[in-house]
Order: sequence, then structure tokens, then C-alpha cells
Amino acid sequence: MENQIRVKVSELLKMAPGSAILVKGWVRTKRGNKNITFVALNDGSTVKNVQIVFDGNIFTEEMLKGVTTGASIGVNGELVASLGSGQAVEVSAKSLEIYGTADTESYPLQKKGHSMEFLREIGHLRPRTNTFGCIFRIRHAMSFAIHKYFNDRGFFNLHTPIITASDAEGAGAMFQVTTLDMNNPPRQEDGSIDYSQDFFGKSANLTVSGQLEGELGALALGEIYTFGPTFRAENSNTPRHLSEFWMIEPEMAFYEIKDNMDLAEDFIKYLVNYALENCMDDLQFLNDMFDKELIERLKGVTGTDFVRLSYTEGVDILIKSGQKFEFPVSWGTDLQSEHERYLVEKHFKKPVILTDYPKEIKAFYMKQNDDGKTVRAMDILFPKIGEIIGGSQREESLEKLITRVEEMGMDTKTLWWYIDTRKFGTVPHSGFGLGFERLLLFVTGMANIRDVIPFPRSPKNAEF
Ligand code: 4AD
Ligand code: MG
Repeated sequence: MENQIRVKVSELLKMAPGSAILVKGWVRTKRGNKNITFVALNDGSTVKNVQIVFDGNIFTEEMLKGVTTGASIGVNGELVASLGSGQAVEVSAKSLEIYGTADTESYPLQKKGHSMEFLREIGHLRPRTNTFGCIFRIRHAMSFAIHKYFNDRGFFNLHTPIITASDAEGAGAMFQVTTLDMNNPPRQEDGSIDYSQDFFGKSANLTVSGQLEGELGALALGEIYTFGPTFRAENSNTPRHLSEFWMIEPEMAFYEIKDNMDLAEDFIKYLVNYALENCMDDLQFLNDMFDKELIERLKGVTGTDFVRLSYTEGVDILIKSGQKFEFPVSWGTDLQSEHERYLVEKHFKKPVILTDYPKEIKAFYMKQNDDGKTVRAMDILFPKIGEIIGGSQREESLEKLITRVEEMGMDTKTLWWYIDTRKFGTVPHSGFGLGFERLLLFVTGMANIRDVIPFPRSPKNAEF
């Protein structure tokens, strides 16, 4: 068996009949009788299965006993034109190797149609379902497309640290990283923990964003992007939040807010379009099984100009809408996803870029507008998702930056390296962060963010 070259199912289904082939994968279904047995085999390369036909004259029932749903097998045979409907070719088996059996009583994925909740409980096996196969192949394609998009445009991928000592961003609560003995930490005279004795000589955390380090890169390399895991310790159990999620953060020197919006809109349309052009089999499956409007919704986004309006205008629309919201809205409040979705789904019926938010609800680094009240923020709001991108032009003035840091009660000392960049060759610059899993929620049509990452981390949940 081993001296023949293995062919992946995705390739095999495109080949002409007549070739001798070796195929390996996991059994999805088996049916038939003493004379003939049909096995649907999947190897993960595509949502499609290949049909293997076992002739009863060569393969006795005893020989096929271990070939059950979930078992892993290799088959040598000939690719032949299929008589059955549903596939052009199938494999007529000549020899069989069983790598691993799967007990029919205890293998949990015997039948189709398990709930997403149940599949989350068997996170170690759910990649073997059609649904998760589709999702994770799309996830890969999107990751590849992101690197391609930026590489094609002369951006450099900058690896920003995962462990940081600055509590800079203010984007959310952080996970602490320490090697101190938590049962008996060294203490200072006032009783507080003495982090000078910790591994890094100071208190450290998992990063909530690569932006601040990304800015350092942009102010040297011009246009950079980061693409890495970020961590937030908020106790938010929602279908749109994870404690560990991946974020793409481009940062560009000499970009004003409009350039930033243009890039973000082009970027996200490119990604959705890339999925439509390269992941159609997987999208079609998800469209048919979960969300009949998925493909239409994706096409809708690529073919439309996003609405651009200010936070102030957005709040006006919400107030005048007469809509009852769970959280009341007024100028100065942070928008909830119900507000964002009202603007996108009910009012404009397309993606919205909201700009110029009140400075009180945004981070210290955003460029201040002349009105003294708002900052040059931009959030992109998407149907079904709400906020998918958050970004801004950055404050490049040393004086204004320091004033803002102090106003917000932050420490200029720990941020010295960030502030330094405004002393030496500061430039207008901008950037944004795209939540990778939020993008995947949109592209796959899934309803829960835990279903678009292989191993979700959320409060009280880190089993697999
Ligand atoms: O709006 P956020 O907090 O912005 C930043 O972190 C900036 N430093 C980005 C930048 O300007 N470079 O997060 C950016 C995006 C959000 O729009 C959302 O898509 C996603 O990250 N996000 C989350 N995704 C999943 N789970 C969470 N807990 C998330 N928090 C934010
Ligand atoms: Mg945000």
C-alpha cells in the first residue's frame, strides 16, 4: 500500500477515471449488503466525501467489520466513473488497511445533526464534523488572505509581544503573568506584592492589543500589520466575546482618518470576496445547513459602499427612531450592540463606519478633534455582528498626548517609550483592529463566536 502516492480527496474528485490511486481518511458512513458495500470517506481536504465501493467478492463482511463510522482507513484502488448520482467518480477498492477502529457504541458522532451546544462539549472531536471542517478551512483561507492582502500592498508583518509590562491600552482587564509563588508572594513593607522579585522584575500581563508596539513599527517601516492572539479577562459571556481572540492590527504612517477608513473598507471587502472566490464549497454547505441568506449577505457587503457618519449623527438617528432599546441611548453613552445593529440592519441596511466618538468613551491615544469633545475614532459596524473593526487616527502631538494621558489618570512613566515617538519625528498616523473571530462569524454565518475558533477560551471554559 505504501509504495503508491496518496491522493487527497479534493484532488481526486477532479481527476479523470482510470487512474490507480491510494486514498486515506475517516469513514463517514457505510451502507450496503453482502455483495457490495459503499463507504463515504472524508479526509478533511474538502467538505465532499469520496465514495469507496467494496466488492463482496474481494472483501468479506469479516474484513469490513472494522470499517465503521469514525474509523480511519487507507484504500488502494482504481478511480472509476460513478454509476450513482451525486459524484462523477468513485474508488473501486482493491486493498484495504484499517489504521484505527471507532467503537460504534461509544463514538459520539454516529449521526448527523448534533446541536452546536453538544458539539462544544466534544471540542476534541467536533473538527471531524462537516460543519467544523468548513469553518476551519474558511478560517485558514481568511488567515492566508490577510497576509496576502498586506504583503501585496507593501505592508510588513510585525510580531508584537504577547507578554507585556505596560497596562497601556485600557482595552480591557488583563491576565497576569507571574512566576511568583501565589501562596507566599514576596511583600513590600506596606504589604503589597513585591513584583521587583517577579520574573521580569515588574508586574506583567498577556497583551490586550499589539497596537502600541505596532505604532513603533509603523513609525519606522511605514506600513505594518500585526496578526496575533490577544487576551481580555472581562467576564463577558456573550456570543461575540472570547477571552482569547486573534486580532489583525494594521498601523500606517502618514495616514489620516479618511485613508484609514478607505483601507479598512477595502480590506474587509477583499476578505469577503476572497472567501466567495475560494471557499464556495464550504460556504454553500453552511448556507444550505444553517443560514439560507449567508452567500447573499456576503455578496451584498462586497458590492456596496459602506455608510460613513459621525457618532453624533448616529445617536440622533437612534433617538429619533422611537425604537425601544434595552439600554437607553443619549450623546456620550457607549453604543451597545443593539444600537449598532439597529443602524446597520434596520436603518441603513448596510455596513456603517461611525466616526468622531466622544473622547470619554475612547482610548487615550486617539487624535483629538478641534471641538474639544470628540476624537478621530472609527468603528465599523456589520450586520448580525455589530462592531467588527475598531480604529482611529492617533494623537501625534506630544503635548496633547501627555495632557490626555494625565487627564485619564494614566502613568506617563510606564508609557515613556510610547510618548518618546512623539518627540522624535512624529507623523500623522492611523490604524485599526479587526477581530478575526468577528470576521469569521460574519463570513461563516455562525451565531456563536465559540464556534469559529478551534479551542475557545471564555469564562470557566478552557477544557480542550
Ligand atoms: O475595539 P478594540 O478593543 O480596539 C483595539 O484593541 C485597538 N487597539 C485596535 C487598533 O486600533 N489597533 O478591538 C478591536 C476589535 C473589535 O472591533 C472586535 O472586532 C474585536 O477586536 N474584539 C473582540 N473579539 C472577540 N472577543 C473579544 N472579547 C473582543 N474584543 C474586541
Ligand atoms: Mg472597540
